Amino acid sequence: NDIEIGIVGSGSMGGGMTLLFAEHGSRIGCYDYEEKAVQKLMDTAKEDEKVDDKYVHGFTSLEKLVNAFPKHGSKDKQPRILVLSMPHGKPVDGVAEKLFPLLDKGDIIIDGGNEWWEETERRQAAAKEKGIEWVGMGVSGGYQAARHGPSCSPGGTEEAWKVIKPYLETWAAKTPEGEPCVLHMGPGGAGHYVKMIHNGIEHAHLSILCEVRGLLHDQLNLSNDEISDLFESWWKDGPLRGNFLIGIGFKGLRFKEGGGIKDAKDGIVEKIEDKVTQDVDLSEGTGTWSTKEIGERHVAAPAIAAAHQLRIISSDKFERSKVADNLALPQPSKAAEANLDKGEKDKLMKTIHTAVYGAILGAFVQGLDIITKASQDQKWNISLADCIKIWRQGCIIQSDAIAEFFLPLFEKFPRSEPLNLLKSIPEIAKELAKTYDAQKKLYSIAIETDAVAPALGASLEYIKAVNCRDLDTNFMELELDYFGHHNYDIKGETEKGHEKGKHHTEFSKTPGV
Ligand code: 6PG
Repeated sequence: NDIEIGIVGSGSMGGGMTLLFAEHGSRIGCYDYEEKAVQKLMDTAKEDEKVDDKYVHGFTSLEKLVNAFPKHGSKDKQPRILVLSMPHGKPVDGVAEKLFPLLDKGDIIIDGGNEWWEETERRQAAAKEKGIEWVGMGVSGGYQAARHGPSCSPGGTEEAWKVIKPYLETWAAKTPEGEPCVLHMGPGGAGHYVKMIHNGIEHAHLSILCEVRGLLHDQLNLSNDEISDLFESWWKDGPLRGNFLIGIGFKGLRFKEGGGIKDAKDGIVEKIEDKVTQDVDLSEGTGTWSTKEIGERHVAAPAIAAAHQLRIISSDKFERSKVADNLALPQPSKAAEANLDKGEKDKLMKTIHTAVYGAILGAFVQGLDIITKASQDQKWNISLADCIKIWRQGCIIQSDAIAEFFLPLFEKFPRSEPLNLLKSIPEIAKELAKTYDAQKKLYSIAIETDAVAPALGASLEYIKAVNCRDLDTNFMELELDYFGHHNYDIKGETEKGHEKGKHHTEFSKTPGV
C-alpha cells in the first residue's frame, strides 16, 4: 500500500491531479487539512471510471502522508515526491515548515501553484539547507487540464528534474505527435516565472478577445450566435487556428442558459456582470506580478499592462458607476459599419480576423521579451523554443498556428540570444507588420464609437512606437533636463543602449520662464 506520490491540497487542481496521476497507475496519497475535501475526492475517485480507487489514499495528517511512502531500505524506496496544490504565499510556507522536518535528504517538493518567483527561490534555499529539492512548477490549463493533462513548467535543479521527468512526461498534456508538454525551464524560479508570464500573455489575450467580442456585438450589431460562428471559423482555420481561448469562447457564446441564467436568447454572456475579480489578494496574483516585472525589467509590454488595468477598472462596479455619473460622457454607440451590406461586412470580418491575430501575436512577443530579459538577468538560460513547446497543448494560451510559426524561428536561435524579438527575428517583425492596417481599422471603430478597447489600443500603439524612427520624446527630454538635470543627446550622437545623454541646457534664467 506504499504510496508513490503525495498531493497536498485536494481542491479542484489538486483533486484533478490526484485522479490524473492515479489513472496513469501511480499510487497517490492525497492530503487536505479539511476532512470533507479529502472525502469528496475519494468519492469522486470511486465514481471516475478511468480511475481504480485502490490507487487513491486519503490523509488529513501530513505526518501520516509522509510515512505512507516506502520505508528506508525497502526495494521501492526512491526520493519522496510531494506536489503542493494550494494558494500561494503563507499556506505554502505553513506546509513547508511542517514537511521539512518529516522529509529525508533528496526528497522532492513540487510547488504546483502560481507563485512569485522570488518566493520560490527563497524556499529553494531553505529546502537546500535540509538537502530537500524544491521545484517551482507552473501548471496550466485549469481544473479540466489538471484532470486530463496540463502543460507544466518546472524550475529547479537538474537532479530533481531527472527524478520527476518520467512522471511529469506521463501526466502532461501531449501534442498530436505525442510529445509531452513539459520541459525543464531552468534553475531557481524559472518555472514559476514562465508560468507567471504565460498568465500575463493570457490576460492580454482575454482582454483582446473580450474587447473584440464587444465591438462585434455592440458596435457592429452581430448576435452572439453570429460571433460564435465567426470565432469557430477562426479557431478552425487561419493564423488563429487552435487558439484555446477562441475555442472555449465560441462554445461559451452559444449557451442560452446555465449557472443561474435562464432563457438568455442572445447568450448567457449578456447576463453576466461586467466585473472581473480574482480569488487572491488584489495586490498579488500573476497579472499584478507580470505588470510589476514589466516595470522592474524595463521591458515594453503595453498590451499585458493595459489588460491588467482594464481588469482593475472593471472589478468595482459600484465605484465605476459613480465615476460615470460624474464624467457623464457618451456611452459606446453603434458603428457606421454596422449597416454595411453583406459583401462589405464579410470583408470587414476578414480585416478584424487579421487585427485580432496581430494583437494576439503582439502579446506573445511582449511576454516572450519579458522572459528573455529575466532569463538573462537571472542567468536562467530559458529557451523560448521550449516555452512554445510546452504551450502547444493543455494551456490557456495554446495557439496552434502561432506555435507552428514561432517554433522553427526560435529553434534556430541560441538560448537567451534574442534581446528583443522584433529586432532579432525579422520574420516576426514582418508578420506583425502585415496586421498593422487591420489593427488600425479595428481600433478606429473603437475610437469612433467610444467603445472601451485598451488592449487593442495598446497593441497598436506598441507597434507604432517601436516602429517610429523619430519619436516626440525629444520634448520630454528637454523638459526633464530643465527640472531634473537629466541631460540629453543631440541628434546623430546617440549611442547604443540606455546611456544617459551628455548635454544640458541651463534655460531656467530665460526671461518669462
Ligand atoms: C492557467 C491559469 C490559472 C489562473 C487561474 C486564476 O494557466 O490555468 O492561468 O493558473 O491563474 O485561472 O486566474 P487569475 O489568477 O487570473 O485570477
